[in-house]
Amino acid sequence: MTDHMPDKSSADAPDWEALLKGRFIVFDGPDGSGKTTQFRRLINLAHSHGIKTTEVREPGGTPIGEQIRNILLDPTNEEMVTKCEMLLYMASRAQLIEQKIAPALSEGQLVIADRFISSTLAYQGTAGGISVADILRVGQIALGDYWPDLVVVFDVDEQTAQTRLNPLLDRMEQKGKEYHRRVRKGYLDQAEADPNRYLVLDARPSADNVTADLLSNLSQRLAAKL
Ligand code: TMP
Repeated sequence: MTDHMPDKSSADAPDWEALLKGRFIVFDGPDGSGKTTQFRRLINLAHSHGIKTTEVREPGGTPIGEQIRNILLDPTNEEMVTKCEMLLYMASRAQLIEQKIAPALSEGQLVIADRFISSTLAYQGTAGGISVADILRVGQIALGDYWPDLVVVFDVDEQTAQTRLNPLLDRMEQKGKEYHRRVRKGYLDQAEADPNRYLVLDARPSADNVTADLLSNLSQRLAAKL
């Protein structure tokens, strides 16, 4: 990673402090996209520039959210219907916003989320069959004014994703190939509909190459929002 970190002293290096402070960035993508590795790397970059961060993961991130996460991912909860799934993810999110995201943004921290409403739109929406309009209606209640500045989608085909997954699959990961093909399409459809808020990266190359691509695109996209 360090070899891909821009040199702080070089004149044309991005001003990461100006770019990242007070931002709300989401990392998202299909299971096995490698987004969590990139998530850790961006946090390290922010810290190396003295930027305070709040990192959250969904579902979860609060004591109540972690309890909801256990219900959602428990493989014995096979009978759970998609509407219940959608509302539980959104309930966990509402708690997370009030307890962690809103206070951190008000202090000018970088908030970086591993998944957010973009996951609900892809999994329970495009893959699960609930309409975008319905999800956005519930999303208005859960999110209020806290919509992300940028959603980075780590795009990967099902075959590559499969090779990166832990063999002990959770309830969502067990849903099969066709479901995960629709999940991927869900992300790409969102990005097409809202190109200003979404950045799609090819997540197939090595982690170091994806990081280099991430940092160069991130600096450009955030500079445009200054
Ligand atoms: P994780 O494996 O990235 O921790 O995510 C947990 C699983 O939950 C993953 O399979 C994606 C799924 N998920 C949804 O189906 N809808 C959502 O809104 C969120 C946040 C996650």
